[in-house]
Amino acid sequence: MKRDEYQTCFTKWAQKTEERLTELCDEYLPANTRIGQAARYSLLGGGKRVRAVLTLASCRLCGEPAEKALDYACALEMLHCYSLIHDDMPCMDNDDFRRGRPSCHKQYDEATALLAADALVTAAFEVIAHADLPAESRVEAAAILSKAGGARGMLCGQELDKKYETQPATEQQLLELHSHKTGALIIAAADLGCVAAEADPAVRKALQCYAAEVGLVFQIVDDVLDVTSTTEELGKPVGSDAENDKTTFVSLYGLEGARRLAKEHNETALTSLRDMGPSADFLRLLAEELLQRKK
Ligand code: IPE
Ligand code: IPE
Ligand code: MG
Ligand code: MG
Ligand code: MG
Repeated sequence: MKRDEYQTCFTKWAQKTEERLTELCDEYLPANTRIGQAARYSLLGGGKRVRAVLTLASCRLCGEPAEKALDYACALEMLHCYSLIHDDMPCMDNDDFRRGRPSCHKQYDEATALLAADALVTAAFEVIAHADLPAESRVEAAAILSKAGGARGMLCGQELDKKYETQPATEQQLLELHSHKTGALIIAAADLGCVAAEADPAVRKALQCYAAEVGLVFQIVDDVLDVTSTTEELGKPVGSDAENDKTTFVSLYGLEGARRLAKEHNETALTSLRDMGPSADFLRLLAEELLQRKK
């Protein structure tokens, strides 16, 4: 697969996600309530859709049409968006911009942002419950998403993230933080695609390993961009981590050290795909893009 083919495919899948999210909002997040409006404001207001694309690509790799996993992909984007709304609130990172616009609590108010995020996370599970897939698949998808988003996954990572604002962390502790806070939902992305496709267990295992590494790369690069990028390019405030005294790989090892570590994890991600043929090229190029990304 050539880079331009990859790019076209990424754009197509991201657009399909966007369209389906809009339809799902009409169903589950009515615009005639303020929290519905706030949820739509955050959900439909940009976002790279990396997680959704990973779900669709994983389903396709397992031999099924990507669209089969579309509702699972959208549910994951809803849950991810909820995590971003809470992440920006004053009690968390206290960031005023997200996706190039005022954060939800700045555009609306804190109470509305809190509730809009709650509405997104509950809607995510409603979407899974009503997806046009077998009941067993939907139960498994709900179990994957709730575990990845909950106290053993993303929320545990967010707790550790707060903890290391006031305490130093070792490399091992930071890896644990990153793998929960960001890795868990990225692993879930691949896993949901596998569940929708009823994947072969060996392929599923390989994709979980790939996604775990890509998830680490994603957060290390996010920490690097927080230092090197601009608010215009990122659509969210730069310098937020330093302002909050976060321990990151950049604060621990400097920019070059963090970039080196991201590269090492990228190589491990590619190793997980080594037994797969050209059908895994999209995921290889995705890993490369997430390592090189500028926003
Ligand atoms: C931001 O995720 C939060 C992190 C885990 C670093 P993204 O960079 O995927 O944010 P959007 O969805 O594109 O806005
Ligand atoms: C957030 O990590 C991860 C979440 C679980 C939301 P960050 O706090 O670094 O994400 P950004 O930089 O605000 O997007
Ligand atoms: Mg944060
Ligand atoms: Mg943040
Ligand atoms: Mg960040």
